[in-house]
Amino acid sequence: MAEKSPAADVEAGLLAHLNSADEVPDSRSFASSLGVSHLELKGVIKSLSAFRIVESTDIIKETWVLTEEAKGYAAKGSPEAQLVAAIPPEGASKDALKAKLGDAFDVGMKAAARNKWIGFDKGNKDLVLRKVESVKDELQEQLRRLENGEAVPDRVIDDLKRRKLITKEKSIWHSLKKGPEFVLKRKTLATDVTTEHLRSGDWKDLEFKDYNYGAQGQPIAKGYVQPLMEVREAIENIFIMMGFTEMPTNNFVESSFWNFDALFQPQQHPARDSHDTFFLKAPATTQQLPDDYLEKVKQVHQSGGYGSKGYVYDWKRDEAEKNLLRTHTTAVSTRMLYKLAQEKPFAPKRYYSIDRVFRNEAVDRTHLAEFHHIEGLICDYGLTLGDLIGVLEDFLSSLGMSKLRFKPAYNPYTEPSMEIFSYHDGLKKWVEVGNSGMFRPEMLLPMGLPEGVNVIAWGLSLERPTMILYGIDNIRDLFGPKVDFNLIKSNPLCRLGL
Ligand code: PHE
Repeated sequence: MAEKSPAADVEAGLLAHLNSADEVPDSRSFASSLGVSHLELKGVIKSLSAFRIVESTDIIKETWVLTEEAKGYAAKGSPEAQLVAAIPPEGASKDALKAKLGDAFDVGMKAAARNKWIGFDKGNKDLVLRKVESVKDELQEQLRRLENGEAVPDRVIDDLKRRKLITKEKSIWHSLKKGPEFVLKRKTLATDVTTEHLRSGDWKDLEFKDYNYGAQGQPIAKGYVQPLMEVREAIENIFIMMGFTEMPTNNFVESSFWNFDALFQPQQHPARDSHDTFFLKAPATTQQLPDDYLEKVKQVHQSGGYGSKGYVYDWKRDEAEKNLLRTHTTAVSTRMLYKLAQEKPFAPKRYYSIDRVFRNEAVDRTHLAEFHHIEGLICDYGLTLGDLIGVLEDFLSSLGMSKLRFKPAYNPYTEPSMEIFSYHDGLKKWVEVGNSGMFRPEMLLPMGLPEGVNVIAWGLSLERPTMILYGIDNIRDLFGPKVDFNLIKSNPLCRLGL
């Protein structure tokens, strides 16, 4: 037969004891009675409690434990007692004693002198004399008592603390009783039916372990959705529920014309500087611009029209032809509105897009050079700022942002324009969530949209609400090479609007 493991012995000892004595008031002294460490007994208790064979109650105690130095004194005697024991009847020189006692010499000399156990020769100050026959080593006694977990008077504790011989430690012991499933010897339960069991037929006599329905399953090896994409899908669903259609955003490269000029953004505008925008080296320009429309855009920039004075400057086609990485998805909205304007008769539309945009700016905890824009627009006769506010309230409250404030703002392509702020209950402050406005007639009329048709539109970043929802405070933890795959795997589904 195989030899019993020590743990099995400890288990047998504990169960036998409980069987006859019904309880173990203190696991620590029980461990020493078995001659095993408390840690070893603890492992056995844990496993027996899991099967409710024993019932364990924690006893949390703060105890004094001996420092390494004190353990030495408990074994070999206090330094003062060691010193006295080292002095022969005729006395000993300090050097000789130092050699014998080592580190304990200084402390021993002081304490022994205080106790009047030693004296000095009158003529020879270097000669240490013993003044007592034998000493009672109280320090050693007290240290040993503490080591055994026995009580020691407070006065002694204070003294030991002062001498830095003891430190306080929190320890958990257990008191033990029989549990509802108590047995003197536990059966090993089978966990699975194996082919061996089936062949030998011993499965008929085996006892099987109960299923643990509360146990967590193994993580499934599958792909996981990036939080940004998860929130994107949730937002898409909101747009779709509100009757919006998706715009095609599959062109990261855009011309300055569609990104800026068609939006009535003047060619001297600072956003058109390479400090803010990534321009392309190759192909640096585009030739595919609609000439008729381009002419109208040129006119409105240079000399106005449709009740506007324009910007009064020399508009250059070269500037409009420069290719760039789109800085906003409003470039896509502009293309779509132009397309819509060509379809006769005019039909109202609700459009949305969620895709990547690029800005040449300093990267920090909340900014990257590329991020995602969420954009929505409604195009219809007679829309007002009130409609915009109403739609924003509907849309944003579905996203969980229902306390909103609007602040007048400026965009070259919208008038009026409003920044959108939402009160964040967790952060306890107003956070800017987006920008919005009514597209200007200088933008819409050159496209050929009928007079009286208005467009209300808004844009937000996808990263901002995702970071708030997932409690992420550094954008680089959400997007880019530093994203932790475990975060993506373990991320719970965040429901918007809850
Ligand atoms: N294009 C704006 C931005 O880059 C957002 C916006 C969209 C503003 C539509 C008004 C209307 O932030």
